[in-house]
Amino acid sequence: MASAGEAGKLWGGRFTGPVDPEMDKFNASLRYDRRMYRQDIKGSKAYASAIQKAGLLTREEETQIQRGLDQVLSEWETGSFEVRPSDEDIHTANERRLTELVGAPGAKLHTGRSRNDQVAVDTRLWLRDVIQEQLEPLLREMITTLTDRAEAEVDILMPGFTHLQPAQPVRWSHWLMSHAWFLRSDLRRLQQLTQRVDSCPLGSGALAGNPFAVDRAALAAELGFTAVTPNSMLAVSDRDYIAEFLFWVSLLGTHFSRLAEDLIIFSTPTFGLVHIADAYSTGSSLMPQKRNPDGLELARGKAGRFLGNCVGLMTALKGTPSTYNKDFQEDKELLFDSADNVTGVIRVMTGVVSTMTVSADRCRQLLSEGMLATDVAYYLVRQNVPFREAHNLAGKCVALAEAKGVPMRQLSLDDFQGISAAFGADVASIWSFEASVEQYQAEGGTSRTAVLKQVAQMRESMAAA
Ligand code: ARG
Repeated sequence: MASAGEAGKLWGGRFTGPVDPEMDKFNASLRYDRRMYRQDIKGSKAYASAIQKAGLLTREEETQIQRGLDQVLSEWETGSFEVRPSDEDIHTANERRLTELVGAPGAKLHTGRSRNDQVAVDTRLWLRDVIQEQLEPLLREMITTLTDRAEAEVDILMPGFTHLQPAQPVRWSHWLMSHAWFLRSDLRRLQQLTQRVDSCPLGSGALAGNPFAVDRAALAAELGFTAVTPNSMLAVSDRDYIAEFLFWVSLLGTHFSRLAEDLIIFSTPTFGLVHIADAYSTGSSLMPQKRNPDGLELARGKAGRFLGNCVGLMTALKGTPSTYNKDFQEDKELLFDSADNVTGVIRVMTGVVSTMTVSADRCRQLLSEGMLATDVAYYLVRQNVPFREAHNLAGKCVALAEAKGVPMRQLSLDDFQGISAAFGADVASIWSFEASVEQYQAEGGTSRTAVLKQVAQMRESMAAA
């Protein structure tokens, strides 16, 4: 081997001068893509078997390669894999080590293959594993946690807010389910995007395809893919599945951020609706009385990072010419960062939600009669008063109570009848928060039956998903 040039590198043949050490460092991705070692070896094992079937390896050569790759895998798993300075990325590192172990047959493994189709298959396999092994189960657990709480705490009433102003009484469980439904859609989206991850690019070569009649369908099946990418130029060029995943993480992150924000507000002493467990709170180094919801604040903050990663990849892809460009190597740190952090967010948020306590008393205290003003209007509607007029008359009741400095329920029947003859003695029935929420019987509303129906619908839909 030549001493000058880049003979130590797998692509060194045509080079005579060395690569600048800074450039070497700049170019290398092993530091982070080594975490795909398992997928890289899996892809290589399947490829070895495919090129053996295509007549490019003898059975004996293939067996040696398979054993060698098993050995490389076990070196990674046990931490004994020795990285060389010439190992640019996980693909070159594994192939270099394989060839050291098995000699000549190792040098045949890359026949018809390129790192362009190799990195694409590795990344798809890696993402598919993370989705199946972590994200989907974690998200399911979170949805179940919210749903179980909703059922168990269906009788607790709380103020519902719009514009963060007290609006109408709702069931606490209705609020819980509103967040569960956001996540339910995220789970569906995850399953949908997984279908697009689930397409095998291996056998596309550098860009033109595979010249050795490799059976791509068999190769895909071997790797557990349900489809084969339909165009080799697309296959090495396509990072859409990563962009889509990064967007998915951004949207999920936004949903968690909003849940976190609700809980941050609800857990302030001023609101006092929920108590976040010690396990997810921290103290202040200065103010002894503080309980800070750091877990929730971090979950909220991560949403910014997720969107940044998504925008980062989209911007890197934009303007790249057809097929593979090294710009694409930038996909991995963004992908890994979003995947790692989003699993953290789901885990912590599931922990927060399953351990927090809700104060039914405090929820009730924060229900104010003003929140029943809509109910006064609905009372009149039930007496056949057109809604616009009823709304106006209810407003007069609010104003009269304010003028007298009393809550509305303390207005006399005469006061009410002075505003509208449609008021009867049963006006007193309005002053029940329980009765108020129970009006909302229509599907998707906050009555007990309607909320329990949501719980059942959620369980059914999760069982089918
Ligand atoms: N480390 C590279 C990446 O992550 C692998 C593909 C390199 N291909 C190439 N032709 N330079 O994108």
